[in-house]
Amino acid sequence: MIGTKESEQLAKTLSSYSKERKSLVPLLQEVQAKLGYLATEAMREIASFLAIPEIEVYGVATFYNQFRFVPLGKHHVRVCMGTACHFAGGKLILEALERELSIKVGETRGDGEFSLERVACVGCCMLAPVMIIGDEIHPKMTPFKVEEDLIPYKQESQKESSGEEQAGEH
Ligand code: FES
Repeated sequence: MIGTKESEQLAKTLSSYSKERKSLVPLLQEVQAKLGYLATEAMREIASFLAIPEIEVYGVATFYNQFRFVPLGKHHVRVCMGTACHFAGGKLILEALERELSIKVGETRGDGEFSLERVACVGCCMLAPVMIIGDEIHPKMTPFKVEEDLIPYKQESQKESSGEEQAGEH
């Protein structure tokens, strides 16, 4: 469900495009950049703006793996799967993250704390395999280091959720 602010942003974005079929992919990209993901309502609005069936918008969006359909987690974790990282064990890093976060790649955890995504080369191949949390690069990863590096993020989430519980008790 998108809020009023997002609806306004969406309307503004739509108004800057021509109502032609060729606007579809750039529109999807810009809407995702602004909202962080492609909400169902946003895809519906795009379909009506371009006067094309919703299923067509959905079909194009799911064809490209650059698009996501759930909001990002508070900590967005990315794993580089470019050539250098792939050969240095990127897949093991991804598997370790799926285990540690209890989500699959492309998903956001139910509590909204973490999301996991695989990305193409992020330009620091010398540090392969690379994991990125938010804007922070974590170099030369191993499955053990995944566990270790996630500790502060998990602790922060726990602290916040126990703080919220205590606030709720008063
Ligand atoms: S392949 Fe991972 S940083 Fe280049």
